[in-house]
Amino acid sequence: MRVYDVIQKKRDREPLDEAEIEFLIRGYTDGSVADYQMSAFAMAVYFNGMSPDELSWFTSAMLHSGDVLTLDEVAGTKVDKHSTGGVGDKISLPLAPAVAACGVPVPMISGRGLGHTGGTLDKLESIPGFNVNMTTADYRRLVRDVGCCLIGQTAELAPADKKLYALRDVTATVDCIPLIASSIMSKKLAEGIDALVLDVKYGSGAFMERLEDAETLARTMVGIGEKMGKQVVARMTNMDQPLGVMVGNALEVKESLDVLHGHGPADIIAITVELGAEMLHLGQVAATVEDGRQQMRAVLSDGRAARKFEQIIEAQGGDPRVVEDPSLLPATDKRVSVKAAKAGVVHAIDAREVGIASMLLGGGRARTDDVIDPRVGIEVHTRIGDAVRAGDELFVLQVGDKGVTDAVARLEACLRIEDAPLEPPSRFGARIDHAGSGPT
Ligand code: URA
Repeated sequence: MRVYDVIQKKRDREPLDEAEIEFLIRGYTDGSVADYQMSAFAMAVYFNGMSPDELSWFTSAMLHSGDVLTLDEVAGTKVDKHSTGGVGDKISLPLAPAVAACGVPVPMISGRGLGHTGGTLDKLESIPGFNVNMTTADYRRLVRDVGCCLIGQTAELAPADKKLYALRDVTATVDCIPLIASSIMSKKLAEGIDALVLDVKYGSGAFMERLEDAETLARTMVGIGEKMGKQVVARMTNMDQPLGVMVGNALEVKESLDVLHGHGPADIIAITVELGAEMLHLGQVAATVEDGRQQMRAVLSDGRAARKFEQIIEAQGGDPRVVEDPSLLPATDKRVSVKAAKAGVVHAIDAREVGIASMLLGGGRARTDDVIDPRVGIEVHTRIGDAVRAGDELFVLQVGDKGVTDAVARLEACLRIEDAPLEPPSRFGARIDHAGSGPT
């Protein structure tokens, strides 16, 4: 077999078979297929797409390019959640302990922040001592003994995707639905999970701005899961504005602790409850999604989710006292306000710009080797649809030693205030599973 022929077939829209796709990915992983050949293939996929069969073979080949973890010794249906990412998206932090406290094992492998979006690992690392760099053996032990594990991706998990993602990043082939779907699903399915809940974001701060594109991505990932024998449910959630109030690492942990104590912003609670309800249903501890919602509300208000988070923090080397005493989290005492320049109704808050402002303060990375300042970030004190008066405090920046002037300028420019009233956007779009899509 020649890789040239595989590329040519994709270019000419001829169907590929499983052996050809395995040959391509195996060769790319061991270096016998060159980056320039894989770039040509990715570009051909960008223009010509992939059939459902090709996509599941491609995902499976990437998934098997490295270790495929097994959690067979852990009782119960193992369920994870993946979000396509957003600004202020700290949902994993309250969600994983809450679901685990209801009896569903949650093996969660997360990523770091880059650009305008934050990463769960960076947020967790603002908890003193918290270690996200666990071995595969630790991973199994933690899921078995604690019911949850919050760690980073090991080098051995889906290495073909790691290489391909870096290549796509420099060859204008990131925004391609089959390549995104196979990339996400290959990593998730390598974790040894039985089922997966996807939080697919749409809106101005999301990876996919248009709802239709986000729904196509969701359907594609659900389809891959089905072909690979895993149950996958996708919930579409709106990312036209930052989620919750806090954006920044320790600040987002603090807000997550509020949610684990039964408080916190309504949007964070609503998404945590909805995604958790789906996880409990897939994990077979809730008879219906509605039963799952009730269990989630109970576990967040009676302290069980908070106790589970303490156990997870302790098991991963962190200081569990932060759960009851958030003042142990790193913080800065320097604050700067951004106030409304005029009265009116908030029509837009560009979430991407808020994320970039937080990054400029040191809360995120422009390059993968940048060092994060866990203390800094932005409190967002307004929402789309709010009426504001001139001089109202709209953002509070918690600042360290850099980026303040640029961050303030971006925040001042990221709001659109108009005279007409406006209905706030709805938080949820469709629910998509193997049977199709429907209302929530
Ligand atoms: N996240 C991933 O893991 N892969 C993509 O291709 C895009 C987002």
